[in-house]
Amino acid sequence: MRKLKSILLILLIVVLVAAGLAWKYQDWVMAQLYLNTMEWEGRVASLKVDQVIEELQIEAGQRVADVGAGTGLFSRPLAGAVGEEGIVYAVDINSELLQHIENRAQREGMGNIRTVLCAEDDPLLPEPVDLIFFCDSLHHIADRDVYLKNLRRYLKPGGRVAVIDFGEDSPHLMSSMKFSLPELERWMTAAEYRLVGSHDFVGDNFFVIYQCDSCPQ
Ligand SMILES: C[S@@+](CC[C@H](N)C(=O)[O-])C[C@H]1O[C@@H](n2cnc3c(N)ncnc32)[C@H](O)[C@@H]1O
Repeated sequence: MRKLKSILLILLIVVLVAAGLAWKYQDWVMAQLYLNTMEWEGRVASLKVDQVIEELQIEAGQRVADVGAGTGLFSRPLAGAVGEEGIVYAVDINSELLQHIENRAQREGMGNIRTVLCAEDDPLLPEPVDLIFFCDSLHHIADRDVYLKNLRRYLKPGGRVAVIDFGEDSPHLMSSMKFSLPELERWMTAAEYRLVGSHDFVGDNFFVIYQCDSCPQ
């Protein structure tokens, strides 16, 4: 009996230490997960990154925010689209991923990518932008209706918000993270955004683009 108690105690200590380390290094742990999955060949092919960039009709010199930038899969082609005069803000809550984006941008001579460590409920952009882009990141954000409304202050007049995300039928997400296209449409209409584009070529994601005629406000 005493031996069993000692084993249980040791097990408990091991579990607690492992949980503590995972908590302390959660950014690093999540970054490793994303670095090993987000740019997997099959995912990149199904997202049709080049076609998405084309549909966004970005002009040279524009300011674009890639919110929940992850490994920078979209930040890099967005930086190509805005050109040397433009800026792409790669925004994320994970500082390890931002460091990865910065290192790669530096290696590849992409001086127009700036990283922004954001808050859970605010992208903390340093200036208003022409386009705020989300790919598979809006489902990570809580209170999406409020968040999307608050984005208005980060948009230039006529600025746009583009969202690529899984629909409500997706097997990839926990139900608490899922939202449907009609739900998104309701939140965007309530925040006075107007639908200007809708595409269904992005794997099992939807891809919609909204414009804000009355921003910033
Ligand atoms: C599934 S990844 C998508 C990455 C990238 N957009 C892509 O499609 O390859 C989701 C990203 O959103 C980030 N994220 C989670 N919550 C966030 C929040 N509240 N604000 C900004 N980014 C967030 C995560 O750290 C992660 O990098």
